[in-house]
Amino acid sequence: MTPENTIRIALTKGRLEKKTLTLLEKSGYDVSELRAGSRKLIFTLPDSNVELVLAKAADVITYVEHGVCDMGVVGKDTIMEKGGSFYETLDLGFGACRFCLCGKAGDHFYEGYHTRTIASKYPEVTRKFFAEKNMDVDIIKIEGSVELAPLLGLADAIVDIVETGTTLKENGLEVFETVAPISARVIVNLASMKMKKQKIQELTGQLEAGLSED
Ligand code: PRP
Repeated sequence: MTPENTIRIALTKGRLEKKTLTLLEKSGYDVSELRAGSRKLIFTLPDSNVELVLAKAADVITYVEHGVCDMGVVGKDTIMEKGGSFYETLDLGFGACRFCLCGKAGDHFYEGYHTRTIASKYPEVTRKFFAEKNMDVDIIKIEGSVELAPLLGLADAIVDIVETGTTLKENGLEVFETVAPISARVIVNLASMKMKKQKIQELTGQLEAGLSED
């Protein structure tokens, strides 16, 4: 569905954007037009067969799944929450953080037999985590600043992203348990992997070389 000679890559806007651009630069691509901070969403990189598309994390997966982008760069958090059919080919290492079960410092989360209420921006990750423990929980979806939920008494705990731990600390919360490590990943459309195998392998090799420069 993408032009035959082009590799179109969907990049996640925001937190991962700068590091992805730096990696592309180290891998030999001219991304100066993206660095210039325009409001454009599709870029053709000079002297290459690569096109970049800027999208929200979950949409990166949607575009790659539907084949309108051959590859994508997206956080493992979004991959775990949304799932889908695509290859996950490379762990880029940056954007490193972890999913954690957290709550008020000093609380004994697993004590007692009542059904716990868990607030999260990631209800699917939360559901799977507790399903593996055979633990029945009520899950409430929150859109952001999830740390508020236990503080306001809405939930017994949260499943959320912890990076530096500062947000937890400044709000009197702590990690009870790590759920999963997270970092940026490269994903590839299933058909593109067959039809454009050589180009994708070449590009993956360039990214790996760019990574090893660090
Ligand atoms: C994320 C996450 C935590 C915070 C963790 O929130 O949900 O709140 O970052 O970072 P830290 O451990 O370095 O303090 P984000 O800034 O994406 O905003 P949100 O809470 O509105 O989703």
